[in-house]
Amino acid sequence: MRMSAAHHRLPTDNYNNICSVAPKASGKSKPKTKPNPVTTMTYSTTVWTWTFVFSICFGLSKCHFSVPLKIFPGKYNVSTGVNLTALRLLALKSDGNGLSLASDPTGTVNFLDMVNNLQGDSGRGYYIEMSVGTPGQKLNILVDTGSSNFAVAAAPHPFITHYFNTELSSTYMSTGQPVAVRYTQGNWEGELGVDRISIPKGPNGTITMNIAAITSSDGFFLPGINWQGILGLAYPMLARPDSSVEPFFNSVVKQLGIPDIFSLQMCGAGLSASAAADPPGGSLIMGGAEPTLYRGSVWYTPIVEEWYYQVEVLKLEVGDQNLNLDCREYNMDKAIVDSGTTLLRLPVNVFNAVVEAITRSSLIQDFSSGFWDGTKLACWTKGETPWKFFPKLSIYLRATNTSQSFRITILPQLYIQPITDVDGTLDCFRFGVSSSANGLVIGATVMEGFYVVFDRAQKRLGFALSSCAVAGGAALSEIAGPFSAADVAADCSTGSLKEPLLWVISYALMGVCGLVLIILLVLLLLPCRHRDRSGEITDESSLVRHRIK
Ligand SMILES: *[C@@H]1O[C@H](CO)[C@@H](O)[C@H](O)[C@H]1NC(C)=O
Ligand SMILES: *[C@@H]1O[C@H](CO)[C@@H](O)[C@H](O)[C@H]1NC(C)=O
Repeated sequence: MRMSAAHHRLPTDNYNNICSVAPKASGKSKPKTKPNPVTTMTYSTTVWTWTFVFSICFGLSKCHFSVPLKIFPGKYNVSTGVNLTALRLLALKSDGNGLSLASDPTGTVNFLDMVNNLQGDSGRGYYIEMSVGTPGQKLNILVDTGSSNFAVAAAPHPFITHYFNTELSSTYMSTGQPVAVRYTQGNWEGELGVDRISIPKGPNGTITMNIAAITSSDGFFLPGINWQGILGLAYPMLARPDSSVEPFFNSVVKQLGIPDIFSLQMCGAGLSASAAADPPGGSLIMGGAEPTLYRGSVWYTPIVEEWYYQVEVLKLEVGDQNLNLDCREYNMDKAIVDSGTTLLRLPVNVFNAVVEAITRSSLIQDFSSGFWDGTKLACWTKGETPWKFFPKLSIYLRATNTSQSFRITILPQLYIQPITDVDGTLDCFRFGVSSSANGLVIGATVMEGFYVVFDRAQKRLGFALSSCAVAGGAALSEIAGPFSAADVAADCSTGSLKEPLLWVISYALMGVCGLVLIILLVLLLLPCRHRDRSGEITDESSLVRHRIK
């Protein structure tokens, strides 16, 4: 079997870091570090210098991150003339989103009205229709649980069909404050404002909320996408320019009084990641969980820290084989659940171990590395699908009873992903897992198997079998538990392995700062002593001498 080359757009792990903590701290303490010849001031200077040192070092380790957003544009070109190996057919009939809408919701919010309110797929992202401004301008907005700004295009761009015209909205108020967000892929700049929005297939009511009006962007809007803005559903800590900019869902809960829970069903499982017509869609249920969208029970894992939706991964299995890495490797430097990331992203060590284990357990040994690193597609003749040759992938998450875990499992149909019609005679697939330099990301590849409940009220994330992760009558995902967590560390999310590079930088900086401090002290103390003795600066101190000369 041979791989065909593809111009596969691959996300890169760039460290375009956003940091608001360190500059603020330095701004405050810098003036105090000016040399002051009065001895009594030396002590406070020392204190301020150390504050400065620590704020920089702490700030560095705390806020060095970029918001992951990865949307594949869904365009693949594959060279023809590949050598094909005939593999046995594994039928996969898509039965669409055959949802039975039988539930009878009670309360103030009708969840059934929100079912199927998403369009899109993992390749181009899942988006919801929103009405922005007065009168309402209809826009499609990407649902992203990995960031916290609500931002819409406010100027034309070649890859979008329309944008939010702030001048046509009588209720739009600009704050004049500039705002910029960098994602793992792409970035945008704009201006903060406030306007009223409503969601046709969301909770009833109009919400006054913060809007970032995007005036310029780079690599953010991509060809083939059908959305014009992004809805960041994570916590205030990730909001830009700072956490005082209340994110969308916080505003919704405050203003409409709905419970502080939302849930997501993404229905692209097993379907082509770049199908042009009729994308499968999904549901964003605001205010709770809709029973018709999942089967079995909901398993909950604690949210480790409220910025991203950070969870704790205890174990990974390929087939029945435990990868057996130190569990801190899985959470380095964090493990998050992010609907705005297409793939399952794994820290480099974990990724390499997974690829090795898959290669070993799959019957296909001659995969070129290009398939694993995402630069090539694997193609079979039409109708012949490779899934039976690949193992299942399981992720163990800490249960709310912290001495237990549960396991979410995806079948190969979810991570060996079909790419439509690169060539009329071939079915081509990409590897739905990639390596990451900024943490483990449970992206759409995994989320499409599950109904995910973002229970912010109880600081936990719930996973249940998604009613639409089914093909040919068979489920494409599994969930099982509870398992004992006795074989892993009590805490896999923190510890010496966390952000090792940043710690090295922090210590290096501390060293530099300390050196500067010593020099400063010498600078300050020596002249002071002389002044105390003689009342004026003499040239006995070499440092002072050098300064005078
Ligand atoms: C919105 O209000 C209408 C009329 O009261 C009701 O039928 C509908 O179910 C409500 N929708 C939601 C999402 O609550
Ligand atoms: C948590 O799990 C442990 C180990 O399985 C069990 O002994 C304990 O009873 C559980 N605690 C609760 C509150 O369910």
